[in-house]
Amino acid sequence: MTKFYELSTSERLAELRSEGAINDDDLRVLTDEPALPTDVAANMVENQIGNFPVPLGLADHFVIDGEALRVPMAVEEPSVIAAAGNAAHRIARTGGFHTSVHRDGIIAQIVFTKNDSSSLSGRQGGCEPARELTPVHDASEDDEDSLASGLQSRHSSPFDNDGLTAFVREHEAEIRKVARDAHPSLETHGGGLRKVSVFRRAEGFAEIDLLIDPGDAMGANVVNTIAEAVAKYCADQLDGLDLLMAILSNNTENQRAQSEVRIDFDNLPTRDMEGGQVARRIVAAARFAEISPLRVATHNKGIMNGINAVVLATGNDTRNINAAAYADLNEQRRTWTEWAIDEERRQLVGRIDIPLPLGSVGGAMSTLPMAKLSLKLLQNPDAERLMGIVASVGLASNLSAMRELVTRGIQEGHMNLQFKSLAMSAGANPDELEQVVAGLRADPSNANLETAQRLLAQQRHGSQPC
Ligand code: MEV
Repeated sequence: MTKFYELSTSERLAELRSEGAINDDDLRVLTDEPALPTDVAANMVENQIGNFPVPLGLADHFVIDGEALRVPMAVEEPSVIAAAGNAAHRIARTGGFHTSVHRDGIIAQIVFTKNDSSSLSGRQGGCEPARELTPVHDASEDDEDSLASGLQSRHSSPFDNDGLTAFVREHEAEIRKVARDAHPSLETHGGGLRKVSVFRRAEGFAEIDLLIDPGDAMGANVVNTIAEAVAKYCADQLDGLDLLMAILSNNTENQRAQSEVRIDFDNLPTRDMEGGQVARRIVAAARFAEISPLRVATHNKGIMNGINAVVLATGNDTRNINAAAYADLNEQRRTWTEWAIDEERRQLVGRIDIPLPLGSVGGAMSTLPMAKLSLKLLQNPDAERLMGIVASVGLASNLSAMRELVTRGIQEGHMNLQFKSLAMSAGANPDELEQVVAGLRADPSNANLETAQRLLAQQRHGSQPC
């Protein structure tokens, strides 16, 4: 049977249509109609002058929590989809990806500075013990010390941690009401304000944090709307503090996805290397990434290759995902994946654990026809399911990159795709591609756009490329 990647674009669409994965309307979005109607685009950004299409492809062979999927990916780099599908194929033969997700909410920070008349308004209450929903997280001892000089009388200033905590405790019901009123439909969609916390910071800052569950939405707008409403309410009550800002944090440690895989050594060999050796070299490559700052940047780029492509295809915010993912890293934790060998079972074992603040409804997901179609191709997942899928694609991309690197090197595979891309840039149509690619491959050191154009011209004029 012809494999999906061996079909032409129109044959792939016909297969998806016959499988029922897409209908005639979807087919029109993918082919006839402009993917983004001008009136929609004009209202999405300021000064819109056109659209910027990138290819949308399907990474084949994903089996995630027992369900087979073709994953839509939007990306300009030729090898990314092929790489993810290649790894997914090897992983599927040993049971596929197994995911787990934690999606507790997004934190919004309401930040205050001390104003000159840092005295407490008469509206503040006393210091009862914290209720469960208003935990107080003290900053470090250092923060406490440096703040101490700014404190006036303990228990009497909102700039004092205890004072702000007491304020939050006393006004919690109102804060919850303000949050609800700012976005009344959120609770009907299963979201809402989950926690209110008080932090004190060094250098004269105090902070109220809101943990907000955005339901299945990505949540930036809803979280910022609630944060600004609560911030205004608090600022009106707190005479001793100036409101500096209210904004969500892209450090989303409460929105994490994990995906785990096992791959039999027998599913890893290359022409020249047996599977166990490939597996051990992959583990060595992963360990090297952990000790080399130069290498880990590239290792992580390989993971984000897959993740960003699905995030973009589904209309999610790629900048948010990257900010959240990189905020998770530090000197002790330099990457999101781990690889090990299970000698007894002769398997390579891999795991990814990464913050992924994704949504599956609202925003661009509801506006962009391509994003809606991508979500449909993923069987309209809720946000948690989408997080598991995206984490799995990141893990697959990492595996594929490392397997190439520790065996034949990435250039051979990359170059074939690069040659195809050069041939297309030179204007070759599908019937002309193969011959132009063969010409470029024959002399890789001169493979550039000019050569591709020359080879194409020769082909069209009936002469053989030299
Ligand atoms: C290229 O886009 C990504 C890789 O460099 C990732 C890696 O080195 O792990 C192949």
